[in-house]
Amino acid sequence: MRTLRTELCEILRIDHPIIQAPMAGATTVELVASVCEAGALGGFGHAYTEPDAMRKDASALRARSQRSFAVNLFAAPTPGEPPIHEQGEAIAAVRGDFEHLGLPVPERIPPPYAPDRAQQVEAVFDFRPGAVTVHLGDMTADTVSRLRGVGVRVGGSVTSVREARHLEALGVDFIVAQGTEAGGHRGTFLHVPEHVMTGTLALVRQVVRAVNVPVVAAGGIMDGAGSLRRWRSAPRRRRSARPSCSAPKAASPRYTERRSPAWTETRPRSPGCSRASPRAASGI
Ligand SMILES: Cc1cc2nc3c(=O)[nH]c(=O)nc-3n(C[C@H](O)[C@H](O)[C@H](O)COP(=O)(O)O)c2cc1C
Repeated sequence: MRTLRTELCEILRIDHPIIQAPMAGATTVELVASVCEAGALGGFGHAYTEPDAMRKDASALRARSQRSFAVNLFAAPTPGEPPIHEQGEAIAAVRGDFEHLGLPVPERIPPPYAPDRAQQVEAVFDFRPGAVTVHLGDMTADTVSRLRGVGVRVGGSVTSVREARHLEALGVDFIVAQGTEAGGHRGTFLHVPEHVMTGTLALVRQVVRAVNVPVVAAGGIMDGAGSLRRWRSAPRRRRSARPSCSAPKAASPRYTERRSPAWTETRPRSPGCSRASPRAASGI
């Protein structure tokens, strides 16, 4: 079997230039360990995870795999409490689910709605994963520099050239170009989301031309042919191919039947082959 090694492999200390999509609330230790052991970068979607639970996940992962893994955090401002009447409408919409589960229907859902981000970052400094990625925003240049200073590589997702240049200026090691096809939330943070609806193929091409760090494609990659298309969309002198890997599904079967979220590097050091990645790869 032919394999491909790219600059991203060196940066992240992985065998294959593939990053498992870090899906908040849907990444188990089993999934992340399986992806890491397959030679790609497994990662926890830790956006909604409290710092102590993050530490537990990291130590459980290290008991399963000694390979590099990633942690993904949200960087969007924490929302305040919505007006009570708006909460009422939202609660009414899911009242049936509460009743179905035999749970009391709340009158309001008070904050906090997300874990404390500064404490999440402190947890990352404690267990020092191979990489941290940010979504829906940025980190300060100082935090990026401190993380890199302790050996943690830093990446972030973007949906436009402007966001890519912004993250590059903060000193990140790699950029994930997330096209409009991407499942879950798109990580737009410098624009009105509807104003930057560029598809993955075009976005990858633009971002690769605009920055000097490796670019990873995300959005609508369902199989080997799709990833090859992203690779081909990059300017010829800077493009890459990808192999594939598979891992146990972490989200509910109903969900993963429909999704195949993965990030694929598009900027090469040395071009190689692409092996088909059929739906068995759902969940990575
Ligand atoms: C259920 C789900 C949850 C996701 N959660 C996150 C997340 O927490 N952080 C993140 O950076 N991206 C998240 N994403 C986006 C993925 O990282 C990736 O960009 C996207 O799934 C790629 O598009 P695709 O689903 O078409 O392959 C999520 C995607 C899905 C499907």
